[in-house]
Amino acid sequence: MKVSPSLLSADFGNILPDIEMINRSESDYLHLDVMDGVFVPNISFGFPVMKAVARRCTKPLDVHLMIVEPDKWISQVRDLGAEIMNVHQEACTHLHSVVQRIHQAGMKAGVTINPATPVNTLVDIIEDVDLVLVMSVNPGFGGQPFITHSLKKVAELAELKRITGSKAIIEVDGGVNKATGRQLAEAGAEMLVAGSYVFGASDPEEAIRSLKRL
Ligand code: DX5
Ligand code: ZN
Repeated sequence: MKVSPSLLSADFGNILPDIEMINRSESDYLHLDVMDGVFVPNISFGFPVMKAVARRCTKPLDVHLMIVEPDKWISQVRDLGAEIMNVHQEACTHLHSVVQRIHQAGMKAGVTINPATPVNTLVDIIEDVDLVLVMSVNPGFGGQPFITHSLKKVAELAELKRITGSKAIIEVDGGVNKATGRQLAEAGAEMLVAGSYVFGASDPEEAIRSLKRL
């Protein structure tokens, strides 16, 4: 299982030890949640903060943009050195074009779907993307309970991959812990985001390891 801990649950008053923990850990990525107060009812952090984090972080960055018009920021996300740029399907009128532009910028393109967005909206884009991020909570906040229906969506997505031959990685974000992570792994998830489960743990590196082993 690939693991992408979400910095949203880190200690923003003393962030360096949390980044160093990620660097030491078995995590595959660092997940960065950008919120604009328009697409989601919260504001998190922007490019100045992410640039400082990127300078200290040795893991590849998995940037999750919960913002309107994410295509305006492709070059800035590229300049961070991000490996994955995730945009919401619901935020992109011209999703195919946005995916192409993310690729032209040299990044992996991820498309994210909210809990009420059906998997079948991805039928005509699944072969063009590197990753699909299934939201298993409504985006905007860490620490929310896992929406069980997401398991069905992950299984549907795994089936869509099988039918189309798409190589898109199935990533899941929201309410992930060891128990929900195990169910997600059985449903076909290949990469898990975890915020509060990791940073709220007494041993965050062990929490990451417990998801890696799923
Ligand atoms: C929610 C964010 C998540 C969040 C997950 O809008 O996209 O990445 O940090 O937090 P947990 O793992 O606590 O649900
Ligand atoms: Zn996220």
